[in-house]
Amino acid sequence: MSATGLDAEVDVDTMTLTRYVLNEQRKVKGATGSLTMLLNSLLTAIKAISTAVRRAGFAKLGTAVGVANVQGEDQKKLDVLANDLFINMLKSSFEVGVMVSEENEQCIEVTAAERGKYVVAFDPLDGSSNIDCLVSIGSIFGIWKKICEGPACEADLLQSGREQVAAGYALYGSATMIVLSTGQGVNGFTLDPAVGEFVLTDPNMTIPKRGKIFSINEGYTQYWDESTTKYIEECKRPKDGGAPLGARYVGSMVADMHRTLKYGGIFLYPASTKSPKGKLRLLYECCPMAYIIEQAGGKASSGVKPILDIQPTDIHQRAPIFIGSVENVDDYLRIRDECNKAEKK
Ligand code: AHM
Ligand code: MG
Repeated sequence: MSATGLDAEVDVDTMTLTRYVLNEQRKVKGATGSLTMLLNSLLTAIKAISTAVRRAGFAKLGTAVGVANVQGEDQKKLDVLANDLFINMLKSSFEVGVMVSEENEQCIEVTAAERGKYVVAFDPLDGSSNIDCLVSIGSIFGIWKKICEGPACEADLLQSGREQVAAGYALYGSATMIVLSTGQGVNGFTLDPAVGEFVLTDPNMTIPKRGKIFSINEGYTQYWDESTTKYIEECKRPKDGGAPLGARYVGSMVADMHRTLKYGGIFLYPASTKSPKGKLRLLYECCPMAYIIEQAGGKASSGVKPILDIQPTDIHQRAPIFIGSVENVDDYLRIRDECNKAEKK
């Protein structure tokens, strides 16, 4: 015990997210501190969103603003606030050249005076349909380096997920948490409201090789293809006579993925007759999640190839996604392979 006798209550050597990133970046040869600055700006946006989420009921932030976003979905006040925070904080870092947000049809350009070498794709508020009923929501982001000569442009955003230099998500749940990877594993940081800092609570997160939970919107069963139908049937009645998997579906990707990362299992949003290309967006939903899950030892596939190997052609393109524990995802891919072979015969 120290002379003050306070050691038991106060961690006097806390590993905050900023401190962690600073340490990590010092190990990277040639690192200039730019990524650290960018992540710091993101942290400010996320802290402000977290505060707004906690006050959403009082401030009527779940109210629709009467405008549909680029996806044709109703925008809520909280969507707009979160989007403005992401854009303004990222611009003010002076480290970003161009951005894409779920809420903006065009890519968001940064003035020459504020421009930097990174490009960022983000969903500022994922799971907005859950705002009003106080179910967990989140924010998702992927970060790439600019590749084109001259001012950053849309082409800088059309890079595969494999090229990300960092990705993460914030979960506004029973606590606010950031899960982040800068390419050296995955770490989880919980917001300590008393200090106003994200503190490392889940170091070196790994996903179990196999899990006992499947996560899909089963209301859409009639729209599924044969492989999804067969796989879900097998989850419920395993061929080896084993226990069925449990079903969980929050309807906020961040919450469903955080559970999948912690407990293992599989999250599916397949292509279907209702959503022929899937629903979730490649650049700011699928790629960051696939990066995190691969870094944690899991797997993410579109059914045809790894999510991270898809070459984007449109900033808002969608992709089917099968993501989670390696063995669960492999089970789905095996069934899909069998269905494809039977179809060819
Ligand atoms: P949003 O970003 O507009 O909130 O929509 C994305 C959400 C994901 O969080 C979630 O996984 C999915 O949409 C749920 O879709 P559905 O209601 O079709 O199951
Ligand atoms: Mg979303």
